[in-house]
Amino acid sequence: MSDPTITTPSPVDVTGEARTGFSSRLGFVLAAAGSAVGLGNIWSYPTQVAENGGAAFVLVYFILTLMLAYPALVAELMIGRYGQSNPVSALEKLPTNRLWQPVTRLSGFIAVLMICLIFSFYSIVGGWIAGFALAPLFSLAGLNDAAQWLETFSPARNLILAALFVVMTLSVVNGGIKNGIERWSARLMPLLLLLLLVLIAMVMTQKGALTGLRHYLVPDFSLINTTLALNALGQAFFSMSLGVGAMMVYGSYLNKSCNLPVVAFQVCLVDTGIAFLAGLLIIPALFVAVDLGITIYTPEGQLINSDTLVFQVLPALFNGLGTLGIPVALAFFSLMTIAALTSSISMLEVPVSCLTERAGMPRKKAGLLICAGVCLVVALITVWFDPLFNGVIILTTHYAQPLDGLLFCLFAGWLMGRNRKLNELRQGWPEAENSLFWAIWPWYIRLVCPALILMIFFMQ
Ligand code: PFF
Repeated sequence: MSDPTITTPSPVDVTGEARTGFSSRLGFVLAAAGSAVGLGNIWSYPTQVAENGGAAFVLVYFILTLMLAYPALVAELMIGRYGQSNPVSALEKLPTNRLWQPVTRLSGFIAVLMICLIFSFYSIVGGWIAGFALAPLFSLAGLNDAAQWLETFSPARNLILAALFVVMTLSVVNGGIKNGIERWSARLMPLLLLLLLVLIAMVMTQKGALTGLRHYLVPDFSLINTTLALNALGQAFFSMSLGVGAMMVYGSYLNKSCNLPVVAFQVCLVDTGIAFLAGLLIIPALFVAVDLGITIYTPEGQLINSDTLVFQVLPALFNGLGTLGIPVALAFFSLMTIAALTSSISMLEVPVSCLTERAGMPRKKAGLLICAGVCLVVALITVWFDPLFNGVIILTTHYAQPLDGLLFCLFAGWLMGRNRKLNELRQGWPEAENSLFWAIWPWYIRLVCPALILMIFFMQ
């Protein structure tokens, strides 16, 4: 006779430990939105907006997010939740024909490798930002030399601060899904929103802000071209953490009773919403800086590069605010550190879940091993900074993310079969079969998404 107190066991990894997931839908949305909202929103998106003609870029970015990134996000979450395992194993389970297994497995391994590389360059930038957040505190304590060291480019600073950022990420991921990732995302995401709103309100009161607002919100359609579209596509995939397994692994921890297209839409909404707000902060801030006599365009009329923008123009702007400048700088760089941290934890979770589930390694040991490897890559990048830093960014965000994202759409579209997709949807949405979503999405990810991604890619 069966014991009524025994419920269906959750899947176990090879260590025999049960897999725990997010405790609530809100917890999942905050964690997944935390992964999505990061330096991509607060640093890269506003810079791309400023470099690509303001509102014209915003428009194309929002359209591509809705048309390509959203359907691809549903596909990744579905693959993860169907597989109930790390991305490599989840991808392995997709094909019914074994001949395809090496292909899907390989795409999983590439995703894991790419996310480790993303984690490496992200830690370097995260470290700089943490340094800029700490510097005002050091100045207040009278430690001016230390504050200057934190803000000045050097291989030693880059390496030490990146290692600090990696350790912060590791300490969250060590806590596991519920007590680490979910708990910290739920604390940090509302704080991030609050800081963002306070900073926007502050910048809007400054002279020059309205010119920036106009640049951000009034589009000049003649600026739309294929380069702009490719940049917007890369930005959309990077911002939604697609193509490298992060959303897949979070999907695998998502409760079966959740409605996948709805939670994906909520994540999308939070991500684009925060990006939009970050634009409302940074673009007017740039024009306030111009008003204060700070240069933001080169003599050729091009926006100065993005590092200079965040690490020179904004601090100069904060200095211009007088005594208010110190708390504002602290708030701004803390905001960026929080955003970076909620993203980096999703990056580390991908290789950690693979090592714990596929190799039977305890979570803490797996985290330590991956972080040691990442620190090694960081050290290489800091030594050969110029070629490696940009090279790794271009390889991962311009090529790997859109192309692996395209493969995941094809796998979900062609290898997963209609019935398995429908069953997965129905678990959280019993009426899914009669919905408009179900009428469109399956062929959309089979044909339209891959074709559009390839088209934008090859038109470039
Ligand atoms: N979405 C993050 C951002 O906008 O900064 C970056 C990111 C996180 C990329 C997780 C990839 C990833 F797997």
